[in-house]
Amino acid sequence: MKISLMKTMIVRGFVGGFIGLLAACGEGEPVMSAEERAAIVAEAESLVPDDPALAEIYEYSCYSCHANPDSGAPLAGDVDAWEPRLAKGMDALLESTINGFAGMPPLGMCMDCSEDQFAALIRFMSRTE
Ligand code: HEC
Repeated sequence: MKISLMKTMIVRGFVGGFIGLLAACGEGEPVMSAEERAAIVAEAESLVPDDPALAEIYEYSCYSCHANPDSGAPLAGDVDAWEPRLAKGMDALLESTINGFAGMPPLGMCMDCSEDQFAALIRFMSRTE
């Protein structure tokens, strides 16, 4: 009786630990098929802001990286990629854009963009407009 109880506890502990491990592996690294990835890239390549003036700015600056899967930038429209960035808050994202951030050059290659325009571009790319 005592031993079987212990066995149950060990088995439960093992299974629990295993499930915990699986959950930890899944975190931050969602399993995505090549097709899903291709769809996200195709969408990023086709998305353009509705506002023509903003669209023009976007196409000569952010687009070259944020619609390019090899750049390492969170892609336009890729809500999952933007989620952890948005969690920092808009002020932090504006600061990253203006000062540069890791692989991104200062001002995201838009030398004459205003803060409002940067914020609008970030909202457009992260689908929080
Ligand atoms: C030359 C390539 C390039 C251009 C142009 C570019 N970005 Fe980026 N951007 C990146 C890369 C790469 C990252 C991811 C950096 C990292 O986390 O390693 C990034 C990340 C960001 C982030 C997230 C920053 C953070 O704190 O997590 C924002 C916001 C952003 N870009 C906005 C913009 C905007 C707005 C434009 C256009 C005005 C733009 N970017 C143009 C390459 C670029």
